[in-house]
Amino acid sequence: MKIIGTGSATPELVVKNTELESFLDTSDEWIRTRTGIEERHIHDGNLEGLAAEAARRAVENAGLSISDIDFLICSSVYNRFMVPAMSCVVQGLTGAACPCLDINGACAGFVYALEMADAYLARGRHRNILIVCAEEPTRMVDWTNRATCVLFGDAAAACVVTSGGDDVLFRMHTASNIDVLHGYNSAGNCPYDKSGRTGEAMSMNGQEVYKFAVSSATEDIRALCETAGISLDGIDHFVLHQANLRILEAVRTRLRQPVEKFPHNLEHYGNTSSASVPLLLDELHRAGKLKAGQRLAMSAFGAGLTTGACLLTW
Ligand SMILES: CC(C)(COP(=O)(O)OP(=O)(O)OC[C@H]1O[C@@H](n2cnc3c(N)ncnc32)[C@H](O)[C@@H]1OP(=O)(O)O)[C@@H](O)C(=O)NCCC(=O)NCCS
Repeated sequence: MKIIGTGSATPELVVKNTELESFLDTSDEWIRTRTGIEERHIHDGNLEGLAAEAARRAVENAGLSISDIDFLICSSVYNRFMVPAMSCVVQGLTGAACPCLDINGACAGFVYALEMADAYLARGRHRNILIVCAEEPTRMVDWTNRATCVLFGDAAAACVVTSGGDDVLFRMHTASNIDVLHGYNSAGNCPYDKSGRTGEAMSMNGQEVYKFAVSSATEDIRALCETAGISLDGIDHFVLHQANLRILEAVRTRLRQPVEKFPHNLEHYGNTSSASVPLLLDELHRAGKLKAGQRLAMSAFGAGLTTGACLLTW
């Protein structure tokens, strides 16, 4: 499998940390020093429009037309559609004509989608698969809870994958743990439901997630290199889930790698869930920073708890 095109679209509205100070007991200084985030983008209600734009840009970047896409996977944790799936909405907006489905691998969703695409391509019945990650975590958090709302931003990012290239290695893991990170939705009014459930914004034990993120990313990347028979120094870019600069720094230090190999853009977007890795990938690709033959290690973690890591040659 190889990635042949990338694209992204972010909302126009940019909200700086200082703006949050006006309605939250927080400070720009706290957010910067604890997370590295300076600002985030927040959409106006049209996530599907962003998703379609990211998809179009990825297809164009791949040098294809939308009719060349024969499968579409959308990674989305939450959006305004319960049904149909976001991928069906994106299909209509982009004019694609292929089967579509959504997955929810939380913030690791892009790596899960990539692994699925790899398996579909290996089966030999598809040529070009479009992966679109469309996320609006700003709609999942309680904006009076400073522990969560300052961390997230909205974005859509996409890529096109096709057969060919070197083997891609994956390492995926799920460890069910609802307590540490969850949110509840509610819809309908079933008279037989005795749970009394109502919707509840995202709740998170930040320190537990932090420890899990650092140890899983470090372990996954080491394990992938071992399987591939290469040293950590043989990796050119470590493209990690953009949740917190301190997490990136902790992983980088443990892997004893230079700062330049750990690109980041979380300062401008915050945590955009599964869109964060492909958003950074698109930025690097369009800046000409990814050279053919270079090795990339990707790693992401999220609610579940899920992790996904991947080693590929660009
Ligand atoms: C959330 C996170 C930034 C918090 O940083 P931390 O250093 O662990 O901070 P703590 O939770 O220990 O909180 C320290 C203090 O800051 C306060 N605080 C929390 N959020 C704050 C905010 N936005 N502004 C100001 N103070 C804040 C806390 O109430 C606490 O105060 P106390 O010491 O008086 O109790 C960090 O734990 C993290 O990034 N975790 C991973 C989260 C993640 O990646 N989630 C996404 C999963 S995909």
